[in-house]
Amino acid sequence: MSKNFYITTPIYYPSARPHMGHAYSSIVSDFFARLKRIQGYNVFFLTGTDEHGQKIQRAAEDNNKDPLKFCDDISKTFKDLSKTLNLSNNDFIRTTETRHKKSVEHLWKILEKKKEIYLSKYSGWYSISDEAFYNNDEIEDVDGHKICKLSGSKVEWVEEESYFFKLSKWQEPLLKFYDDNPNFILPETRKNEVISFVKGGLKDLSISRKSFTWGIKVPSNNDHVIYVWLDALTNYLSALNYPDQKNDLYKNFWPADIHIIGKDILRFHAIYWPAFLLAADIQPPKRVYGHGWILSGDEKMSKSKGNILDPIEIIDKYGLDPLRYYLLKEVSFGNDGNISNEKLESCINSDLANNYGNLCQRVISFCEKNVGMKIPIVGEFVKEDLEILDIYKSKFDELKTKIDNQNINFYLNFIVEQLFRANKYFNDQEPWNKKSNKNRLNTIIYVSLEIIRKISILLYPIIPQSSLKALKIFNIKENEIDFATIQNHKFLPSETNINKIGILFNKFNK
Ligand code: MSP
Repeated sequence: MSKNFYITTPIYYPSARPHMGHAYSSIVSDFFARLKRIQGYNVFFLTGTDEHGQKIQRAAEDNNKDPLKFCDDISKTFKDLSKTLNLSNNDFIRTTETRHKKSVEHLWKILEKKKEIYLSKYSGWYSISDEAFYNNDEIEDVDGHKICKLSGSKVEWVEEESYFFKLSKWQEPLLKFYDDNPNFILPETRKNEVISFVKGGLKDLSISRKSFTWGIKVPSNNDHVIYVWLDALTNYLSALNYPDQKNDLYKNFWPADIHIIGKDILRFHAIYWPAFLLAADIQPPKRVYGHGWILSGDEKMSKSKGNILDPIEIIDKYGLDPLRYYLLKEVSFGNDGNISNEKLESCINSDLANNYGNLCQRVISFCEKNVGMKIPIVGEFVKEDLEILDIYKSKFDELKTKIDNQNINFYLNFIVEQLFRANKYFNDQEPWNKKSNKNRLNTIIYVSLEIIRKISILLYPIIPQSSLKALKIFNIKENEIDFATIQNHKFLPSETNINKIGILFNKFNK
């Protein structure tokens, strides 16, 4: 079994500064990347910016800037955000880089050579905001404007010479591919939407534009630029040095294990992308997960509505780890969710400060007063000790399976439940009343420390900074975290030193 794991975020349009929706896609992806790393996988985690196309060209024009200069500036804000979010990405790709251009040109040439592309004329609706072509039945009239029903974006009528990809030819092979790979599209509801769209009939896809210039030119005809989605999707290959299919990155990491994306861009990833790849004789990715939206109030964020949530503002006010925790716990993964200050504050106060932070503080300070700053010698476990310890072993396989199916909420609920149990255990065992029974007192402390270790490991992919701070108690460093050891009840070596740590989370008082 290969121990490599390739995970990607969508690449973001640098048409405006990043918002909470972008931060969400990235944080979720980082969660899986970190989780896989502590499970012993060699992980390649990719993010970046999608810089070509009419949307970017127009945004640059509106700002009176040269498109590349415009992209340089905004792409940097996305790169900076990846640092602010503490993403553990291995690479950051920009589609204006030469390595990417080479890769897209190569893919185009292969498709041309395999006679998957032909020149004709496109006439139909196009949304610049979505960079998407729409059928007549997907359009409606709102206040005299033509709008795409699905995305709500304005569309324009386009008529121009265009190269087409023979998408219609791939309808049956795609349906077979979905059938053979039942977990290719998750969650299930999204998969059904995609399948019924494909069953409804696929038309050939326009894959070049002639009316603007900001893009990668069609190699055999420089009057055309390659459709931005064919360009953008190829980023997942360019980062692995495609077309060199013999290099280690490509050999180890393609096909990608999972593309994390928002539900609005599912059609591109679950239909066009595997079709391009099948046509080019390249294996499609193993999975595409379409998550829900982060709503502002009850609506999708948009510049025109003026309801953009800025992740930096929230981080400045509440801190990064609380935001990461909130997004992973409070949004039911796969569905839409929203952020409210009240719910975020309650997460900080009850789960992070009271439940986790307090557990660490009280156990360490009890340890300090009663056994010195050393891990005590553990005595015989009694029923109550085993009950609380064994759950990490008995639930281990289930936890792994759930997370392999992207069930983030199961994972989070497990942690919250264990935090409650840990605090209850410490209260019920009353170590402060066991001073005459040193053996029992030592064992209660040992078990409590073990639980802190296990929970901190589980929390690492969610709140890495805070988890690492807690793991300093035991001198466990980031590259030493091993997920499998949560099953181990006597991992901590007795009589070794432990360290004091500062407050993990301050309660939020208005
Ligand atoms: N550039 C394309 C993706 C190309 S991938 C080969 C794109 N960019 S985007 O910047 O518009 O959006 C990037 C991601 O952010 C998408 O997955 C999108 O779903 C996500 N989000 C944008 N707004 C969002 C919310 N309000 N909530 C959650 N995610 C949303 O599409």
